[in-house]
Amino acid sequence: MAPLENDLFLRALLRQPTPRTPLWMMRQAGRYLPEYRATRAKAGSFMQLCMTPDYACEVTLQPLARYRLDAAILFSDILTIPHALGLGLEFEAGEGPKLDRPVRTPADIDRLPTLDPERELRYVMDAVRTIRRELGGRVPLIGFAGSPWTVATYCVEGGSSKAFARIKSMLYGAPQELHRLLAHLTRATTDYLNAQIRAGAQAVMVFDTWGGALAPAAYREFSLRYMADICAGLIREQDGRQVPVILFTKGGGQWLGELAATGADALGVDWTTDLASARAAVGGRVALQGNLDPSVLYAPPAAIRAEVAKVLASYGTGPGHVFNLGHGIHPDVPPEHAGAMVDAVHELSPAYHR
Ligand code: CP3
Repeated sequence: MAPLENDLFLRALLRQPTPRTPLWMMRQAGRYLPEYRATRAKAGSFMQLCMTPDYACEVTLQPLARYRLDAAILFSDILTIPHALGLGLEFEAGEGPKLDRPVRTPADIDRLPTLDPERELRYVMDAVRTIRRELGGRVPLIGFAGSPWTVATYCVEGGSSKAFARIKSMLYGAPQELHRLLAHLTRATTDYLNAQIRAGAQAVMVFDTWGGALAPAAYREFSLRYMADICAGLIREQDGRQVPVILFTKGGGQWLGELAATGADALGVDWTTDLASARAAVGGRVALQGNLDPSVLYAPPAAIRAEVAKVLASYGTGPGHVFNLGHGIHPDVPPEHAGAMVDAVHELSPAYHR
């Protein structure tokens, strides 16, 4: 395997010194890029794009060809696990994900199969292997999965949700059943991420997109605890290098201190939390990744540059910061605006590392 040319991202996640702040963008391969839309049309559907390793590799590399980014992220989705569990996933154009066979009863939980990621999710591992080969060591590759709680919301609701009525009714009315589902997803997710690491993922991120919808006690019991179990079960070193783990609870600013105690190496921070207070809350135990409001990219380049400067200043000097958006890039952002953000991080961040 080719040696890693640019390891700034991995170094920053481990709070080691770097000459500038590394960056990548959540959802960097996606609909805001015309070349992504072209490959998706060739593939026929979003799931075909995910399940065809050559196409998944092509779109993974597209943002790297345009921008000076310090990491690639596997092109896939957090819903590959419910798909592999046989819940009947479909993505209808403009409507988001739909699961035909949601998990609603104790018998539905009993029926969930145990996954072998190199079998049911082999297409993901093949994509990881293909991407690593095509990257040729330019930048590290991030593997990912959804948190058990976040994936469970889709499994139970049957799609995206606003009020989480069904799963919260289970959480408060039949908590032991929800725990059984979460334990099953935790095992599957740990095995899945370890398989990605064995296939070549050099860092992994857990997306807890809906953790912020929980009350504090429920967050600890139904989301945080299972992410800590995942951290404890992951391969932490591969090919002589540490494999950093990033946890990201959207809306989880008030729990950063508790997240820092899970054993993760780094925490994602959304744009509703000030990075300076996030840094104080974690007290040097973990690195931080974030947190430009993704809507800043609707503004003209000069305004984007000013907002990038504020994020860098808010983290302040020293190692342990990976610049990112506070959530995924919006599909209707002009690609040149993302470029303005990347350029600003390259130009303005060295001042924080002297
Ligand atoms: O970051 C990247 O470039 C890697 C790819 C990636 C996708 N999904 C591709 C995708 C990643 C990391 C995800 C994670 C994901 N998927 C999350 C967690 C991250 C977050 O944004 O909070 C969630 C909640 C999902 C579930 C999901 N996937 C939904 C709700 C939808 C439909 C709504 C939407 O945003 O379109 C998807 C589809 C999806 N996943 C798309 C992409 C590029 C759009 C599909 C298309 O091409 O039409």
